[in-house]
Amino acid sequence: MRESGWQFRCPSRPRGEAAAGHPMNGAMFPLWQVDRGEYELACAHLGLTPRDRIYEMLSEYLARAPFTFAPPRGLARALAQRRLTAFRLARLDLASRWFFPAHPIRHILNAVLALHECDGAGYREMARAPIGRTAWLALAGWTLRAAANHAITLSWLAAQCLAWTAWKPFAGGAAAAGRRVLITGVNRGLGMDLMLECLERGARVIGTVRTEASRSELLARLPASAPVTLLVADLSQPGMITDALDAAGVLPASLDMVVLSAGTKHDGQSVLSLERVRDTFQVNCFSAMEVAAWLCAAGVGQGASPSEPAAGPGERDPRTALVLVSSMGRWHGMHSTAGYNASKAALSIWAESLEMELHLTGKRRPSVTIVEPGLFESGMVGRRAGLGLLFASRRRVAGRILDGAVAGRKVLRPPFWFALVTWAVCLGGRGLRQRLFARAKPKAPR
Ligand SMILES: NC(=O)c1ccc[n+]([C@@H]2O[C@H](COP(=O)([O-])OP(=O)(O)OC[C@H]3O[C@@H](n4cnc5c(N)ncnc54)[C@H](OP(=O)(O)O)[C@@H]3O)[C@@H](O)[C@H]2O)c1
Repeated sequence: MRESGWQFRCPSRPRGEAAAGHPMNGAMFPLWQVDRGEYELACAHLGLTPRDRIYEMLSEYLARAPFTFAPPRGLARALAQRRLTAFRLARLDLASRWFFPAHPIRHILNAVLALHECDGAGYREMARAPIGRTAWLALAGWTLRAAANHAITLSWLAAQCLAWTAWKPFAGGAAAAGRRVLITGVNRGLGMDLMLECLERGARVIGTVRTEASRSELLARLPASAPVTLLVADLSQPGMITDALDAAGVLPASLDMVVLSAGTKHDGQSVLSLERVRDTFQVNCFSAMEVAAWLCAAGVGQGASPSEPAAGPGERDPRTALVLVSSMGRWHGMHSTAGYNASKAALSIWAESLEMELHLTGKRRPSVTIVEPGLFESGMVGRRAGLGLLFASRRRVAGRILDGAVAGRKVLRPPFWFALVTWAVCLGGRGLRQRLFARAKPKAPR
């Protein structure tokens, strides 16, 4: 069987925030799924008793919601992003009945009701009804509560609407429904969050993983209805990724976005361990060049003049977006990483050169977005004590990358202050960098 309950369970965590560690140990789709605490609140709201077995079934059902229902947009999306409290749940229940019938909360509450109704004990709870004089008292109480609920909910909704209008220019969540996105390295880290974020936004994903074992493991974890095609390509083997794409019959022009996220860093290895350095450059840099050449050679770059207007706000950009995940580390050297920073410097500079060439030759496609994302927790970079402030939420980074690529941004960097600190360290000279990085990473390379 391809699905089992634990894969869909969500531990306690704020809505819209990726759980630390493996994203699939947390919520895959935070807009749609509820954690155990939120489920208990929903039960309290509906007058039901929570049950473990029903929560398992609910989690499985909601993990399929992004492929069944249209993703929420605008205010509805903003209202779905925050963690449920008893107060918010009561407001959302009423507001969604009047104004957002397709809001995730409707599916969540309807599913809780339906699952409890199919359960013997749940059915008995739901079938209980006051009789005689208590029925009239209950009706009076219900009428008073409904009036108060409407008054509070309408004022709350007006306030939410004002806040959303003010925040709208900065809010992400660009629509991706129907888009076809190629992402490398989707079995873990940023690549996996990019895949989940795309799926939550309604996109179809072609993901690449390094081995057949990773492919099987990932397939077993994803809901069967997820629109994901997984290809195996070891990026350290020249040409393997484009061969895999061709063998699968993927046409470059059929892709709306290509996000090259997979990367490698041989920690502790000297810049003189040439085999590792070659591997680093092949995975981080040359494989990206291979995909870009494949995209451009197949005519994705043909036929659009530089004067062709870019898509306006809210319009769909017809260009394939090529997104190359580089690193802020590309601005400075680093010992003991087998040339990781050098490979990212090469990638960033090469991508800029590609964009210049596309411009000069009159090809506006693909659009090129270079991502230098700052720090986030992953297999590549473990979180270090005391440095928590420097780390961004990986799922948020993934969301920002998609928003930026859809908007046709040329470069995406971490919060400005992080970039400023990096550049200040760069301006401080080699001596400063040497002392600083030796303290951060005191071990000599192997
Ligand atoms: N984490 C950070 O703070 C940070 C900062 C700046 C930039 N970045 C960049 O962000 C991207 C994602 O990194 P991450 O932090 O998410 O790293 P990660 O957790 O280590 O994931 C790396 C991904 O790349 C895949 N990969 C590595 N070598 C491969 C190969 N030879 N063939 C195919 N796939 C390969 C891995 O597959 P396997 O599971 O098979 O190894 C994995 O899916 C990288 O390009 C990285 O340089 C990360």
